Amino acid sequence: MGKLVIAGGNVLKGRVRISGAKNAALAIMCASIMAEGQVLLENIPDITDIQVMISIIRCLGAQVEWPESDSLSIRMPGRIEAMPPYELVKKLRASNLLLGPMLARYGRVELCLPGGCNIGSRPMDLHFKGLAALGAELTLEKGVVRATARRLNGSRIYLDFPSVGATENIMMAACLAKGQTVIENVAKEPEVVDLANFLNCLGARIRGAGTDIIKIEGVDVLGECLRYNVIPDRIEAGTYMVAASATGGDVQLENVIPLHVEPLSAKLREANVEVYEEGDVLRVRAGEPLRPVDIKTMPYPGFPTDMQSQMMALLSRVKGTSMIVENIFENRFRIADELKRMGAKIRIEGRLAIIEGGGRLCGAKVKAPDLRAGAALVVAGLMAEGETEIDNVYYIDRGYHRLEEKLASLGARVWRR
Ligand code: UD1
Repeated sequence: MGKLVIAGGNVLKGRVRISGAKNAALAIMCASIMAEGQVLLENIPDITDIQVMISIIRCLGAQVEWPESDSLSIRMPGRIEAMPPYELVKKLRASNLLLGPMLARYGRVELCLPGGCNIGSRPMDLHFKGLAALGAELTLEKGVVRATARRLNGSRIYLDFPSVGATENIMMAACLAKGQTVIENVAKEPEVVDLANFLNCLGARIRGAGTDIIKIEGVDVLGECLRYNVIPDRIEAGTYMVAASATGGDVQLENVIPLHVEPLSAKLREANVEVYEEGDVLRVRAGEPLRPVDIKTMPYPGFPTDMQSQMMALLSRVKGTSMIVENIFENRFRIADELKRMGAKIRIEGRLAIIEGGGRLCGAKVKAPDLRAGAALVVAGLMAEGETEIDNVYYIDRGYHRLEEKLASLGARVWRR
């Protein structure tokens, strides 16, 4: 069942419930390593990235259970016997977020450089720089990072770029450091704020998450958190918003924080899609005709790189010229080749994609080059004439909870082969 098949042409209509945010949940699971007591997390999506992270923390000795289908309880041991195994770490980019918490709680960590999507060089220099500033001794040898610290000390750290992962790793480690840490030019993504709220629930003292500067007063221990509700997934929501727009549809999204999807909503409105709040749901209704738009990916609250590929798919059907500048990950245009197999007219010049939209898309055999590109192929398949067969579905399964079920409930014809 390695392939996803979509028979295109159906208009998406109806309601869909958005799951918890993958990237917030993964970071919060890593932060749970620092909790001395019980942790109960709610609104956790049952996707493979989460399953891999569960396996990793179980290897460290954690007791992990699913008391309900979308909640997870975690209890870490006082001492750990093993380090995260390479076979699991290589499957998941977010395993780099084990670095800060393991170092802070257990004083040492050994981690092979993680895998995940091949969307660019994805260096970790900012993570290392921040942890070193807190007093960690780090070595990098043959792809393995080793870090030790007897006790971390608060420090002042400036990030050259507002990296999400570096902000999260340093913020987590600083919670158990001695004294105050100030991190400047931090990422302001909602997942960073959610992580800070969770850490504060454990007893951390973090202020400023969501702004450019985060201040942390170190504490001696982090305790328990008997109930924490993870934010909804703004990228999953965004993907359904684009899919609805692409099919001329009318879809209501439940469990969304409208502010978190505003950078996308604003672009869709520019493209003649109505996006508005209706009670506690977000409604997306495509206008006729859609208009071309230009996009530049930026750190939050700019347009998210994780929505760029799906928009490229949509814009390939919108009459006129659209341009996309990818400023975050240099390999994120590999999706263009797959879309071109379906008939899209896209030219890539470095970090710029020029899309001559409006032509027909035809179903084809395509391969997901990464998670969000996989989602883009789903969007393209929904618009295309005939059948689209998407290979490398495991990428899509990393991040989308019950994708076929949700799409089918909106009227799409989609199945596994
Ligand atoms: C996170 C998200 C990912 C999203 C990305 C940007 C998770 C698990 N993943 O990835 O879905 O696409 O944010 O919103 O939350 N960089 C450096 N040095 C570093 C770290 C990063 O130069 O030490 C650069 C990267 O190469 C990239 C940019 O900073 O060009 C952004 O990366 P970053 O924000 O760190 O992304 P991730 O945390 O890996």
